[in-house]
Amino acid sequence: MNFQWYPGHMTKAKRQMQEDVKLIDVVIELVDARIPFSSKNPDIDHIAKNKSRIVLLNKFDLADEKNTMLWKEWFEKQGFFAALVNSKNGKGVKEVHNVIQQACKEKIERDRKRGIINRPVRAMIVGIPNVGKSTFINSFAGKACAKTGNRPGVTKGKQWIRLNKNVELLDTPGILWPKFEDQAVGLRLAFIGSIKDEILNITELSLELIAFLQVNYQGFLAERYGIDETQDKVKVLEEIAAVRGCRLKGNELDYEKAASLILDEFRNGKIGRVTLEFPQAD
Ligand code: G4P
Repeated sequence: MNFQWYPGHMTKAKRQMQEDVKLIDVVIELVDARIPFSSKNPDIDHIAKNKSRIVLLNKFDLADEKNTMLWKEWFEKQGFFAALVNSKNGKGVKEVHNVIQQACKEKIERDRKRGIINRPVRAMIVGIPNVGKSTFINSFAGKACAKTGNRPGVTKGKQWIRLNKNVELLDTPGILWPKFEDQAVGLRLAFIGSIKDEILNITELSLELIAFLQVNYQGFLAERYGIDETQDKVKVLEEIAAVRGCRLKGNELDYEKAASLILDEFRNGKIGRVTLEFPQAD
């Protein structure tokens, strides 16, 4: 899925989320572990204020382990409950139940004091397109889940997925928009494939990625492609095109094909586990 946001979409999505948030106890926000900052929308902090907050660093299988742990700590310092998940293979997904219980501890305690026992916690999943919301919901809810019917009055028109006796999940995730106005954010979203490649200059994008890897992940390109990665980035692209046989009809090197190959392999994690941005010390 690619981003296609217009002001009208954003206003509608925001209004919808403001309504939905009234019904729930905890907001579970998915971010991409490779770009936890760029895949987070700041508006949700305002929309979800006074709610318990969980951040899930999804796709952690594609991100660098050390930096993912730093990001987890960073989020915890900001007052979030945080956990790592791989929604695709289910790693870390079950543990989210415990995180929800921890995040809602005060609420559960408050309910108990008022004599309300076993009222399930209500949660909703939010995140930018392509971050893995549907994959996560499928993995988290599993096949065994039953959809509960509409409840007149309180949850009109809403479907809830009863996960177990403790948790109900709003079945439609809230879609957030990324921070498009920031160019660095746009570049990182493009690296991970969340912006249509057709509207980008693929060769330029791959050169930017090569430059980032040369500085931050030394040895990755050399290891993957068996080339000298210490040269100028254009030379690196040229060598990758040569070793991977990316050629045009007249046997000339096909830079665009090589660029596309590098981006594909990067997005699939074949170049290695890479985090594209690092938490700033406060
Ligand atoms: P969305 O609802 O937030 O828009 O995202 P969605 O679940 O559709 O997931 C977007 C893509 O991200 C999917 O790949 C999905 O498989 C992949 N994905 C989700 N979670 C993870 C994860 O933890 N790790 C990895 N490696 N990938 C994840 P796709 O290319 O669209 O489809 P497919 O390749 O799975 O067929």
